[in-house]
Amino acid sequence: MNTVKVNASKDYNIYIGSGLLDDAGERIKNELGVCSAAVITDDNVNALYADRVIASLEKSGFRCVKFVFPHGEESKGIAVYSEILSFLAENHITRTDMLISLGGGIPGDMGGFAAATFLRGIKFVQIPTTLLSAVDSSVGGKTAVNLPSGKNLVGSFYQPDMVICDYSALDTLPDEIFADGCAEVIKYGAIMDREFFEFLKNNDIKENIEYVITRCVEMKRDIVNEDEKETGIRAILNFGHTIGHAIEINSNFEISHGSAVAIGMIIASKGAYKMGYCDTDISEDIKEVLIKNKLPVSCNFTAEALYEVSCSDKKRSGNSIKLIIPEKMGKCTGKKIPTEQMLGFIKAGLE
Ligand SMILES: NC(=O)c1ccc[n+]([C@@H]2O[C@H](COP(=O)([O-])OP(=O)(O)OC[C@H]3O[C@@H](n4cnc5c(N)ncnc54)[C@H](O)[C@@H]3O)[C@@H](O)[C@H]2O)c1
Repeated sequence: MNTVKVNASKDYNIYIGSGLLDDAGERIKNELGVCSAAVITDDNVNALYADRVIASLEKSGFRCVKFVFPHGEESKGIAVYSEILSFLAENHITRTDMLISLGGGIPGDMGGFAAATFLRGIKFVQIPTTLLSAVDSSVGGKTAVNLPSGKNLVGSFYQPDMVICDYSALDTLPDEIFADGCAEVIKYGAIMDREFFEFLKNNDIKENIEYVITRCVEMKRDIVNEDEKETGIRAILNFGHTIGHAIEINSNFEISHGSAVAIGMIIASKGAYKMGYCDTDISEDIKEVLIKNKLPVSCNFTAEALYEVSCSDKKRSGNSIKLIIPEKMGKCTGKKIPTEQMLGFIKAGLE
């Protein structure tokens, strides 16, 4: 088992190992004390893992209540969030009690926002069960729900008190959901660590899962320690995301987030090179590792269609768009691209 320590506005430990679901109760009890615990999860994860987590908590003396919602992004809105708050109140969860998010980024983001806001904040533990949530969303304290007008428009920064990542739970993930997480793993190599990127080129993510999750979490920890509220460096985690988001929207969300980010990374790196913003074209290297991990590297949308969404009012600041672009493999930077150059940028990236 590996332990990664975060020192942000709250200090907490992230435990990464196999079989950790079964002693979650003891681990939480030893660090955070015994209390009532509200477990928030979706229907898929409930059927697979909730009984084990709750048995472990009850064995350690916790009183447990459980809230299950239908899986999927449609649930991540104000309606289910509000149901969670009512559930916490009706089940007499108090300020000294705890909310545990069990599952992927959706239980994590929505449970986290409920923990942040119920009684102005209660204890919060993340138990991620997707690769994306293990390497990204469970760490760093971004919590949110969606509004009909856009994703993650209501939320807060609220760090968890502990993260327990039992990577044996990833064994039941459908291939395409595992691949979504791989896109984020590959992103970490491209933006921060050339050596890690080379490792991914030559090794299999599944076969090295403990090392891969630990290394990604360490990178995210370093960024969060430096820039918890995303006023600077944390933005590099958005590499591939601005154009990726435009791909998701153009596909009516038929193309998954991870696949869209994969294509977005290719367009951003190729576009940056062709427009002369950097000296190296890292897109071919990224493409190789994406393909190896069953991720797409191109799409059929026109540059105009992607431009339209990328340069929407919400993304614009004045007359420019801040895009994360590579300087070289393992190093990225934020660059303000004038909106009049964005269409050319995307066209160059799509070639
Ligand atoms: N807070 C952050 O920093 C941050 C970062 C990235 C993404 N996000 C958010 O995360 C969400 C996406 O996360 P996600 O892809 O984990 O979504 P998710 O929680 O919906 O999980 C994806 C699917 O996998 C299923 N699943 C989860 N664990 C499983 C397991 N072990 N075995 C089988 N099936 C399992 C779920 O039921 C769901 O159907 C988005 O809402 C995104 O906005 C947040």
